[in-house]
Amino acid sequence: MKFFVDTADVKEIRELNDLGLLDGVTTNPSLILKAGRDIKEVTKEICDIVDGPVSAEVTATEYAEIMREAAVLAKIADNICIKLPLTLDGLKACKALTSDGHQTNVTLCFSATQALLAAKAGATFISPFIGRLDDMGFDGMEVIAEIRQVYDNYGFETEILAASIRSVDHVKRAALIGADVATIPPATLKALVKHPLTDKGLEQFLADWAKTGQKIG
Ligand code: G3P
Repeated sequence: MKFFVDTADVKEIRELNDLGLLDGVTTNPSLILKAGRDIKEVTKEICDIVDGPVSAEVTATEYAEIMREAAVLAKIADNICIKLPLTLDGLKACKALTSDGHQTNVTLCFSATQALLAAKAGATFISPFIGRLDDMGFDGMEVIAEIRQVYDNYGFETEILAASIRSVDHVKRAALIGADVATIPPATLKALVKHPLTDKGLEQFLADWAKTGQKIG
């Protein structure tokens, strides 16, 4: 499973990239707002840090304007992945952009049938939003499982990018289902390492080691 970080916070991205944990980055208009930075400037900075795909989202809703914005975003760096809304205009743009050799990420997916459309439009990634489905009383993970089955039934190569991840358990369940990628908020990504028995075990080992009076090296 590939790990993307879901943020436009350059400091967090740099830290996680230095740990060797990052395969890519996803951003969206809300994350750009949170970062308080100019979209082109911050996206360029992120693309310079991370080797993998960096999703930058268009904000237009009409095909021609989506294509104009996509051209602007694509110029930022070679590893830009154009993020498009799951609408008819977004899907049309997805088809055109992937045919043109661009990476695409179709976002705001909440059903397997929407994901099927994105795959038919040639999307590189489909982003089903788990947490937002859970918030509404649905089971977001069920949608991930359905998309996995639909894509496997027909051999679609579109990668399932589990998004709107809110917990370590979301990551585990998405991995068990076989989502190709998880885009994870920085705090949740760091929380993956935590286990009380790891902390307790390390404490015990260090205490016993101190009692040996030895030093390695
Ligand atoms: O990148 C899109 C997605 O991950 C948003 O997550 O927590 O705002 O639902 P959230």
